[in-house]
Amino acid sequence: MKMKEKKILTQIKELVKSESKREDVLKGTVRILKDHYDYYSWVGIYLLEGEELVLGPFSGKPSPHSRIRLNSGICGAAASQKKSIIIPDVKSDPRYLACSLETKSEIVVPIMTREEVWGEIDIDSDRLDAFTEEDKHLLEEICSILAELF
Ligand code: SME
Repeated sequence: MKMKEKKILTQIKELVKSESKREDVLKGTVRILKDHYDYYSWVGIYLLEGEELVLGPFSGKPSPHSRIRLNSGICGAAASQKKSIIIPDVKSDPRYLACSLETKSEIVVPIMTREEVWGEIDIDSDRLDAFTEEDKHLLEEICSILAELF
């Protein structure tokens, strides 16, 4: 992991210590991610409520998908399969629910403790094939820190 990613993890751990409200930690996490990566065009956190993912803090254009069922979209797939999903080209995935016409690739990483999913980080990029294993690794580390809040 590079210095930049280590710095981001430190910032998020500090947020967890300093903010008493979970909502503020989630908001801060979205802001930190959006500020550090120019190819993260839309960053949002969905929280699982029953059978639906409900959009919490986000940065980017408003999304039409403020509620997503577990059997729907890339978001639903990541939560129900309990694994991170990278979509290099959203046009070639029939599960994809469009948020913005500019979006070309997407990554979704579940926030989970052992086997229980609490939500997920969803990031869209206007660049094709924007997300690498390094993004996935960083976001999985962040999600394991956030999972402690649930
Ligand atoms: N693309 C997601 C929907 C959420 S928007 O990208 C914000 C999906 O396919 O589940």
